[in-house]
Amino acid sequence: MSLELRGITKSFGALVANDSIDLSVGTGEIHAILGENGAGKSTLMNIVYGLVAADSGEILVEGVVKNIRKPSDALAAGIGMVHQHFMLVPVFTVAENIVLGHEKVGFGGLLNLADARIAIKRVSDEFNFEVDPDARVEDLPVGVQQRVEIIRALIYDAKVLILDEPTAVLTPQETDELLNIMKNLKARGTSIIFITHKLREVKAAADRITIIRRGKVVGTAEPSASQEELASLMVGRPVQLNPDKGAHTIGATILDIKNLTIKDPTGRAIVKDVTLEVHAGEVVAIAGVQGNGQSELARAMVNLEAHVEGSITINGEELIGKTVRQALHLGIAFVPESRELDGLISSFSISENLILDLHDLPPFAKGVQLFPAVVASEAEKRVAEFDIRIQAVSDPVSSLSGGNKQKVVLARELSRPVQVLVASQPTRGLDVGSIEFVHERILAERDAGRGVLLFSTELDEVLALADRIAVMYRGEILAIVPSTVSREELGLLMAGVVDGVGKGKSA
Ligand SMILES: Nc1ncnc2c1ncn2[C@@H]1O[C@H](COP(=O)(O)OP(=O)(O)OP(=O)(O)O)[C@@H](O)[C@H]1O
Ligand SMILES: [Mg+2]
Repeated sequence: MSLELRGITKSFGALVANDSIDLSVGTGEIHAILGENGAGKSTLMNIVYGLVAADSGEILVEGVVKNIRKPSDALAAGIGMVHQHFMLVPVFTVAENIVLGHEKVGFGGLLNLADARIAIKRVSDEFNFEVDPDARVEDLPVGVQQRVEIIRALIYDAKVLILDEPTAVLTPQETDELLNIMKNLKARGTSIIFITHKLREVKAAADRITIIRRGKVVGTAEPSASQEELASLMVGRPVQLNPDKGAHTIGATILDIKNLTIKDPTGRAIVKDVTLEVHAGEVVAIAGVQGNGQSELARAMVNLEAHVEGSITINGEELIGKTVRQALHLGIAFVPESRELDGLISSFSISENLILDLHDLPPFAKGVQLFPAVVASEAEKRVAEFDIRIQAVSDPVSSLSGGNKQKVVLARELSRPVQVLVASQPTRGLDVGSIEFVHERILAERDAGRGVLLFSTELDEVLALADRIAVMYRGEILAIVPSTVSREELGLLMAGVVDGVGKGKSA
């Protein structure tokens, strides 16, 4: 089915998020949309899906103008969407989520549970999805949760599927599986709008590429274009996709993790007896397939985990037993894996979020007296430095695009005077220009003699930034290897294969 957008315009106050956007997607076409953080991609898709009302413009399906005011109108017109942030209810089962979906479908009546199970099975069999209709969503890996959203769209017979950054939270393997699903859908004639910041994926999957900058379509590109070409079209300047990592001088141990074990509430060990040192002037990356204890290990660095044994010291000072705030004030900068859960307070303004843990300290406050003007001017400075696309620093952080929220967390954490930077998936959701900037900043921290502990599921990021790489597997550190390790060797280690790979367990 074909989709055509004509002159879609949408403003939020003075900001024109979509400026007369024209776009056409043919039957069975995978159409990628590339654009910087805040370019207006999600806004455009939310308009097509009936979640946001356009100020003007038309949406045509098979050449016929459709009046889409809510998601059920979109579904009725054959348009389905998988969101940047999933919209499933975690405590419900897969079937319940499909029946009780956030959008009520007006045509043909709602499914009941029994019908939903049958429909799930039909779609799952057709695409070789392994999804148990009675599994609780919160117990499923992220990749499977996403499949549930895709199944829902397919059950409601979507012929145009919108995928807004579907791979941001997926492992490399889940990403490959998704790209295969997309190809199967395409072969059946489904049209797909694919939003991603990963140029490799665009090249692998897209038939056509449209580039949006500051709310406007600025061009189209062929998938045969190089990553460098695509990057500069998007950002409007050349982008260095691989950071230059100069020589570094290693100093004393700053962060010292000894025999650290972390248990879940049932007493099962998620992190097992981890010992690791991070020195001044080095980046140590923790690599591993998601779910091997990295998230818990990262959270333990600021005491966000409950059941912890062992020791973590910063310059000799014990961190375990302290509060999160005390941990931060010992000199840790912390970029959490989930900006929504641990990184930001959505209802607070951008400027408040930029100084969260410093709000009651000089220069922002003295005793009980607060200095809002200082907070605002500091916020303006960081917004400029990190190129955060905003209207006013007093706006709620919730109004920002996904990537710009991430930049708020980074700007706050990379601006504090610290000893150690602990960063989890720091570039998740960022555009290529912003990734370049963040990578430079992380290397600058290292070159200034700080210790960096980086958690990343992106192999390219690990290989580009790390001086040493610790591979986690099933809660343990399987090996510590130098950054000269090959992608293949690293991949094998991440899969738990040690024999014959690199130097094995050596620091
Ligand atoms: N509800 C809203 N209120 C005010 N501004 C908004 C709102 N929704 C979006 N915006 C603004 O519109 C612009 C476009 O945001 P959008 O989410 O569409 O960007 P995006 O291209 O999807 O970016 P990202 O790659 O970071 O996800 C941003 O500047 C954002 O701050
Ligand atoms: Mg977006």
